[in-house]
Amino acid sequence: MTSNLFSPFDCRHVTFRNRIGVAPMCQYSSVDGLPNAWHMVHLGSRAVGGAGLVLFEAAAVSPEGRISPADLGLWNQRQAEALRPIADFVQAQGAVAGIQLAHAGRKGSTQVPWVGRAEVSVADGGWETMAPSALRFQPAYPLPREMPPSDIERVIDSFRASARLAQAAGFQVLELHMGHGYLAHEFLSPLTNQREDHYGGGFENRIRFAVEIVRAVRSEWPEHLPLFVRLSVTDWVDGGWDLGQSIQLAKILRPLGVDLIDCSSGSIVPDSRGPQTPGFQVPFAAAIRAQAGIPTAAVGLITQARQAEDILAQGQADMVLLARQLLVDPYWPLRAQAELEGASSHWPVQYERAVNPQAKR
Ligand SMILES: Cc1cc2nc3c(=O)[nH]c(=O)nc-3n(C[C@H](O)[C@H](O)[C@H](O)COP(=O)(O)O)c2cc1C
Repeated sequence: MTSNLFSPFDCRHVTFRNRIGVAPMCQYSSVDGLPNAWHMVHLGSRAVGGAGLVLFEAAAVSPEGRISPADLGLWNQRQAEALRPIADFVQAQGAVAGIQLAHAGRKGSTQVPWVGRAEVSVADGGWETMAPSALRFQPAYPLPREMPPSDIERVIDSFRASARLAQAAGFQVLELHMGHGYLAHEFLSPLTNQREDHYGGGFENRIRFAVEIVRAVRSEWPEHLPLFVRLSVTDWVDGGWDLGQSIQLAKILRPLGVDLIDCSSGSIVPDSRGPQTPGFQVPFAAAIRAQAGIPTAAVGLITQARQAEDILAQGQADMVLLARQLLVDPYWPLRAQAELEGASSHWPVQYERAVNPQAKR
């Protein structure tokens, strides 16, 4: 019996073998923005584990777009060349390789999380951060400069250039990070955007930066390849960005060539991550899918095969993305398929005879 979870998903000219994606997860393990053997093993294992999409972690579009000095980057040819064999390996396992492009804005120039999220000073290899308005995320974070129009143009150009490099690196999906309190989200949310020019104020102005990034990236990213956008669908704060505005934005992005909204939430201000209960963000994916008429991905505390299957069967989303569960168990997709369908079809040939009782010996 075929499940919804293991039915293929077509998006432009790309076919995902199933509806399970590895959510982007920063590893804070790069030097000069370069991937290394850690990334090959981390991402490669999850492709071997049967995911349909492996989204590489947030890659900064410029050095000052990083969260920490150890972030992955995609602003030069060397980085694209180092990513290529990892993307190729992921795709050789039957998964689609995608990468998330990001700019951290006012959350940049901070330590890796296991050191603690304090500012890294310029003297220690940090940088001056930027944001729509000169407001700190929290006291231990750097004070960003308010971006003049020249900064805005430069960041949009960086996204465009990064999209070109992503193509050179062999990726088949691009996701733009417009959530979690990073730069694009900082423009969307009235909590962080207090500008008085045409990038601030009303909804039309606050979405301008995001829309300009999408236009720039779509002009560079091949027509036949999917473009996803990750939103924090709500700030979980009164007076902040919310579901209604996300639906409006999704309706505007769809005709600009965005193929799917990845529905996350929160993190624009400290302690705003939502209730953290199983599937707590799924209703956002359902609402945007139904009301904006665009495919969505659900993410956030999806851990069970039956739970994932029900999200798809009920038409709440077109894909499910898993993060922490896939760290615990890279083979989750193979086990989920056995649970839902009685057998797993994607064991790598090197393993199959040993682990799959139904395989011919
Ligand atoms: C280690 C780790 C790193 C993460 N890095 C990113 C990232 O690079 N970009 C992003 O959009 N979300 C990031 N997230 C959030 C996840 O993509 C996901 O939305 C979140 O963990 C909820 O899904 P889960 O409940 O399946 O873990 C990260 C999460 C974890 C656990």
